[in-house]
Amino acid sequence: MLKKKFFTNNPAETHALGKALGAVLHRGDVVAFFGGLGMGKTAFTRGIAEGMGLDAQVSSPTFAIVNVYSGSPMLCHFDMYRIDGWDDLCTTGFFEYLEDDAVLAVEWSENIENVLPENAFFINISKGENDESRIFEIEGDERLENIGC
Ligand SMILES: Nc1ncnc2c1ncn2[C@@H]1O[C@H](COP(=O)(O)OP(=O)(O)O)[C@@H](O)[C@H]1O
Ligand SMILES: [Mg+2]
Repeated sequence: MLKKKFFTNNPAETHALGKALGAVLHRGDVVAFFGGLGMGKTAFTRGIAEGMGLDAQVSSPTFAIVNVYSGSPMLCHFDMYRIDGWDDLCTTGFFEYLEDDAVLAVEWSENIENVLPENAFFINISKGENDESRIFEIEGDERLENIGC
């Protein structure tokens, strides 16, 4: 398990960081985001989609709860903000997608912390000194070594 810290200074840099991670993801991977509104979770996920080589117009899954982008593997983008409890979570299809060998990107992972797989990439995002700076603390496997500098 590795832990790495990344700093971005604008949305484009966040996108690039997501793209770098997306390029090394494979089926079955889960990317679990922690950090409040406007931290850049959706921006990062757009980067993931591009890094995975998907031609996807990624938008926030706030209303749909989950947006699925086809590909090999497909990308399932969740917003767990309003998920409260086991029944709620089951209706999102989370467990089926997990079994389906998709890549899962999960916003508001705080709400489903106890069902996240141990080998997920855990991404904690916080604000830096400026409005547009963000700190990404990412925990994951050795693939993190090749990302960023
Ligand atoms: N370094 C940064 N990385 C990502 N987004 C940033 C950054 N700086 C400012 N922003 C702004 O923050 C917002 C992030 O939006 P979004 O990706 O939807 O966040 P979240 O999904 O975490 O709520 C956008 O309005 C974006 O322009
Ligand atoms: Mg979002």
